[in-house]
Amino acid sequence: MGLIKVSHLKPNMLVSTDVKDRNGRLLVAAGTRLTEKHIRIIKIWGVVEADIENASEKDDVPSEVEMVDPDICWAASEQVAKNFRFNDRENPVIAELFRISQERKAVEIARARDLGPQPQPAGSPSPRASRRNRAAQEINPQERWDRPFDHIRKLIRQDVRLTTLPAIFRRINEMIMKPSSSSRDIADLISKDTSLAARLLKLVNSSFYAYPARIESLSRAVSIVGTNQVRMLAFGIDVVAQFRNIPSEYINMDSFWRHSIACGVIARLIAATRNIQHTERLFLAGMLHDIGRLVVYHYTPQYAVDILKQARESEELLYCVEAEYLGADHTEIGGLLLQSWKLPQSLENSVRLHHTPCETQNGLEPAIVHVADVTAKALGIGSSGDLYVPPLVDEAWRQVGLSINSLDAIAEQTDRQLEETFQLFFK
Ligand SMILES: [Fe+2]
Ligand SMILES: [Fe+2]
Repeated sequence: MGLIKVSHLKPNMLVSTDVKDRNGRLLVAAGTRLTEKHIRIIKIWGVVEADIENASEKDDVPSEVEMVDPDICWAASEQVAKNFRFNDRENPVIAELFRISQERKAVEIARARDLGPQPQPAGSPSPRASRRNRAAQEINPQERWDRPFDHIRKLIRQDVRLTTLPAIFRRINEMIMKPSSSSRDIADLISKDTSLAARLLKLVNSSFYAYPARIESLSRAVSIVGTNQVRMLAFGIDVVAQFRNIPSEYINMDSFWRHSIACGVIARLIAATRNIQHTERLFLAGMLHDIGRLVVYHYTPQYAVDILKQARESEELLYCVEAEYLGADHTEIGGLLLQSWKLPQSLENSVRLHHTPCETQNGLEPAIVHVADVTAKALGIGSSGDLYVPPLVDEAWRQVGLSINSLDAIAEQTDRQLEETFQLFFK
């Protein structure tokens, strides 16, 4: 018998002690020979180690990072330390996130050295884009407002395109409200939007759900996933389409959505460990948490350029610069947008409070999105414009009730689900 890290499990290994999740639920019984599916289930539920019959040290093979040159590890540590400058590294949660982040950075540097010169890191505008940024700063100087947030609030109220709920979402909503409508009716409605239908089918068959059998029909997908979840996912797909045309000179949109989807995936993984029902709501809250920034990038790019520049020069947190410059930060703007879309209050709260999750009594969901956002940023997956890992609110971490040991498994699971989930929304 021997404990093996979950990342080192292989099919055919013999389990010698029951593998249970953190709530004591049996995942794989002692005496089972592991299959790929068992390993996937163990990982999904955040198990860190498993007891394996006849395991030897050679089974616990060194990971890629254990083979990286120590000089590279040191360089990675220096780079990552800058990203964590607004967090207390003595805090054990931050220390663990720092360790994971440093390991990932070390592997990234080692791979880049092996491959030669690489493209610019995600999130940094190209030199050409920077030149265009300077030009953008000169657009419409007469539009500068004393309190730019009033301008943005006016835009959210007045812009019909912005305030109109995506059409398919509205129609799905109407149908769900009718007591007589069935999964079949909702599937028929979705099937009229071929792109949405194809994405939903891909989604329910992806590792995001990890259903054992293939789901071939939309009505089966709707009945398995549930109408509320389908509505949320359809909404996410529509929102992405709504903000598709933001010019790349203001923000690297690929990087923006990678950060947002990573936050959604992590929020959903955390929600699953808390046995929260309808985890898609948490996925959507994570995916939309920084949407207020898209409003600024899309509708008032001249403000966005100034804010990003100021944040880089002053090395301040982006949301602090936003609050100073606009009179409100992206959480407030995102909250207003979701309010104008008349989305559920819980979703609006998660977006509005993701940097201040303890400002509400019923703060579990904002706390989950907060921890997911900090984790996504610490893992270095994309960026919505920030340079730094946002400060972790200790009380929110306690409320979420995650074990520090599960962060490694969450990082691994996020990597596993991210690319596939990203492709579903963007290809
Ligand atoms: Fe944020
Ligand atoms: Fe974020």
